[in-house]
Amino acid sequence: MKVTAPADPLIDLVARRAPGYSLPAAFYTSAEVFDLDIKAIFGRHWLFAAAEAELPEPGDYVTVTLGGYSVILVRDDDHHVRAFHNVCRHRGARVLTEDRGSVGNIVCGYHRWTYGMDGALLHAEAQAPGFDPSCFGLRSVHVRALAGLVFICLADEPPADFDEIAPRVEPYLAPHRLATAKVAAQVDLVENANWKLVLENNRECYHCSGHPELSACYFPIYGYTRETVPPTLQPAWDRFVKATENARATYSALRLPYEAIEELDNRATGFRIEREPLDAAGESYTLDGRAACSRLLADFPTPRLGRLAMHTQPNAWFHLLADHAVTFSVIPLAPDRTLVRTTWLVHSDAVEGEDYDVERLTKVWRATNEQDAALVARAHKGIGSPAYVPGPYGPTEYQVEAFVNWYHKRLKVFLAQ
Ligand code: FES
Ligand SMILES: [Fe+2]
Repeated sequence: MKVTAPADPLIDLVARRAPGYSLPAAFYTSAEVFDLDIKAIFGRHWLFAAAEAELPEPGDYVTVTLGGYSVILVRDDDHHVRAFHNVCRHRGARVLTEDRGSVGNIVCGYHRWTYGMDGALLHAEAQAPGFDPSCFGLRSVHVRALAGLVFICLADEPPADFDEIAPRVEPYLAPHRLATAKVAAQVDLVENANWKLVLENNRECYHCSGHPELSACYFPIYGYTRETVPPTLQPAWDRFVKATENARATYSALRLPYEAIEELDNRATGFRIEREPLDAAGESYTLDGRAACSRLLADFPTPRLGRLAMHTQPNAWFHLLADHAVTFSVIPLAPDRTLVRTTWLVHSDAVEGEDYDVERLTKVWRATNEQDAALVARAHKGIGSPAYVPGPYGPTEYQVEAFVNWYHKRLKVFLAQ
């Protein structure tokens, strides 16, 4: 008698996904898929962890928690950002328990094993003769600083394509000098939805009529073409076409790259980057489109540079303007809870109250994030109903589909190993 092995429900689920449609409910709601996502997606790919500006001085650190992992990012005495697993090499205690801070050495609070900024074990009291500290340094995590943005990878062998992508996107990012910027504000928002719904929502502007503040300064035509733009958005489309022509003349004169590079689902590190104009005054994410910080990030001759938008899969998107930058990182907490961390960066010499006002600087994205949080919570609730069946993506949602295709391919690669 032929005996067949019981089918793996996860492999079966991944095989049953229909291209062009939203994912089956279990991808968003099941604890097993959530664990798979942590292993196959977050444990294997390059993740945006922090802006370098979050740890400006040697000894400054940030901890990033992800599933069971906790990672220490710390700036060493040579000003490089290092990353280590936040697990003591003595008996495994979490070494640093705060979200951020500043240290002389990295000291475990349990029995005070003391590590240097390079992770080496410097001191462990009362050990047996022959104890070799060089065998017990903190385990390092792969880390790359990209024009002031810090990425980590938890895998032993990270996707090699990051080294190929970095020199292509660096010319877009570097003029904004984020490596020497400072943090003006940071907001953590826990959204009641699966992390993929947060990413999917970010990849389309089909819902942008729900964003009055953003729509005041941003062309809500993202994902549309001349052929697909609906009549209601035709005036915005016409303004966008004209603004693009003017903006590209400025970009060319300033030698700022602007052409879109979009490689979302054909590589391990899916990404997209493009520089394009903003609406209204075209300078910044404010209600009138005027700059929110009078001290620009660099010596740009004009604040009217629109936005440089970059998106990296699986967990981040970025907006770099002339006067400030905003970074967004997505950290899954549970199948139905996701941390979205938003960080506003300005020139390190910009003075709060003189050059910028935090309320004005952050207003558009604080409001937009809250609106998005409500939308994705609503999506998660609906998907939780037994009546949910996957629905079709429209042309303006092609980047949602690309993200889901990427995610699905990455799961297949993982499960085939
Ligand atoms: S577990 Fe860290 S010093 Fe003992
Ligand atoms: Fe939105």
